[in-house]
Amino acid sequence: MSIQETDSAVTLVHPENPNTSVTILKYGATVYSWKSNGKEKLWLSTSAKLDGTKAVRGGIPLVFPAFGKNTTDKYLKDLPQHGFARTSVWKCNGLVRSHPPTVQFELNESIADEKLIKLWPYKFTIKYNVELGSDHLKTYVDIFNDGQEAFDFNWLFHTYYKINNINDVYVCDLKDDSTHDNITGKDATELNSKVIIGEEVDRRYLNVKTVKPVHIMDAKSGTPLVTLIRSNLPDVVVWNPWIEKAKGMGDFDPKDGYQNMLCVEPGYIHGLATLKPCQKWSSYQYIY
Ligand code: BG6
Repeated sequence: MSIQETDSAVTLVHPENPNTSVTILKYGATVYSWKSNGKEKLWLSTSAKLDGTKAVRGGIPLVFPAFGKNTTDKYLKDLPQHGFARTSVWKCNGLVRSHPPTVQFELNESIADEKLIKLWPYKFTIKYNVELGSDHLKTYVDIFNDGQEAFDFNWLFHTYYKINNINDVYVCDLKDDSTHDNITGKDATELNSKVIIGEEVDRRYLNVKTVKPVHIMDAKSGTPLVTLIRSNLPDVVVWNPWIEKAKGMGDFDPKDGYQNMLCVEPGYIHGLATLKPCQKWSSYQYIY
């Protein structure tokens, strides 16, 4: 069987390669390990909480319905940073496809984080599929509005990549895109074809054409370490907390772990997406 399920997590193992697997915690439907041919591709803090007491620091936390701290929307502004999807326990619907093995998780208002869902009074269903290819991971989502009123939301895959050394990588394919720097608050245009991370970076790239894959490159060899393909996710956040911010995060360990991780997060965050009653919103990230 390519699926193993426990009370708290689900693991898929690729039928053709026992060294290729993905593990998803039901809490947050958070992918926290993806091994491709024996190599771990995602970064996970050694002090990440996997017991459902805090959003997982690492892997692929899901951000919904608010990205960051919303300050303007009637209901979203009452939610904590990054919403409630990552702190809700999702239902596992089991395998929905056997090849490539694909497992589905579901969240709706009746099972979402009890305290937080009271603050966001909508009826919805999210179906989240994790597909384990022999050479890729695809995470895709369908959000349904089951109520009588339209609602506004953000969606984002907060993907933490594991890398050997932050000094040896750069992100490319973002040149000429509009940016908003979350540290300085300034808007600008990306002038660099190679985005090097040499300090704290918390930058939103907005309306990046989805036909363009985004790459994390190995600076020495000039070859891609990660290729990110996006559907209906026009925005990309590049985040590395660097030294001081990492020190301040209780669940970020080891403290020099910022050297071995980089978040490249595709999402819909330049504004709020709107979902009318009976409609569906879909998107995916495909990474290899
Ligand atoms: C990023 C944001 O997506 O997530 C950062 O751009 C934020 O501003 C980071 O610090 C981590 O957020 P959290 O809530 O998981 O600590």
